[in-house]
Amino acid sequence: MIRINKYLAQCGVTSRRNADVVVSERRVTVNGKVVDTPGFQVDEAADEVKVDGVVVKPVSNHKYIVLHKPSGYVTSLSDPHHERTVADLVTGVTERVYPVGRLDLDTEGVLLFTNDGELAHRLTHPRYGVVRVYRARVKGRVTKPKQIQLAKGIKLPDGNIGHARAGIEMVAEKYSDLILELTEGRKREVKHLCKAVGHPVVKLVRIDFAGITCEGLKKGQWRYLADREVAKLRKLVGV
Ligand code: URA
Repeated sequence: MIRINKYLAQCGVTSRRNADVVVSERRVTVNGKVVDTPGFQVDEAADEVKVDGVVVKPVSNHKYIVLHKPSGYVTSLSDPHHERTVADLVTGVTERVYPVGRLDLDTEGVLLFTNDGELAHRLTHPRYGVVRVYRARVKGRVTKPKQIQLAKGIKLPDGNIGHARAGIEMVAEKYSDLILELTEGRKREVKHLCKAVGHPVVKLVRIDFAGITCEGLKKGQWRYLADREVAKLRKLVGV
């Protein structure tokens, strides 16, 4: 028996975390009955699970994709407000792949997609400490004490302490370019941290996620990961 959210992630429906939302929207049935509790246990061998009326089964054909996300696209497969979503860019993939974590509407850069629920879960869970690297243009002239403050840690709106190893790439009269390395990936973490030290972000690009970059991809383009890249990701998080 496994939890319904884990089962839905194994079926490539969505990430484990987002599966709870799908369940709470009463879109999931098990043996014909609506399930709306995230803790519901599924018997993988015997139960028939449907999402939006369609039977779902664990995926064996895993796909791994990196998208160079442009600004202006929501990290979601569908959006009720009809904004452009990243799904509009990752087209022509027969398997249903979903984003690994999220980037803000106005953030650009590396966004992975997969239908491998376990790998996606581990890459995004703070416990696994996966490194994300961002280039941030921030307002004002960043100084060494601010750099130290970012590394020491700052309380985030969700109560957690966020840390960033910050390198100062360039300081101009009115802005600075920083390279920030984070290992947790909490919601809007970079923007919160920079704002907290008095340097709000004006532009944010994720240049590396778990060792994967967008090198060679124009904004809006995507590619499948090479087998050796997938193997590296698996090794990184112990799958
Ligand atoms: N941190 C942010 O503030 N925004 C992102 O999109 C990613 C990390």
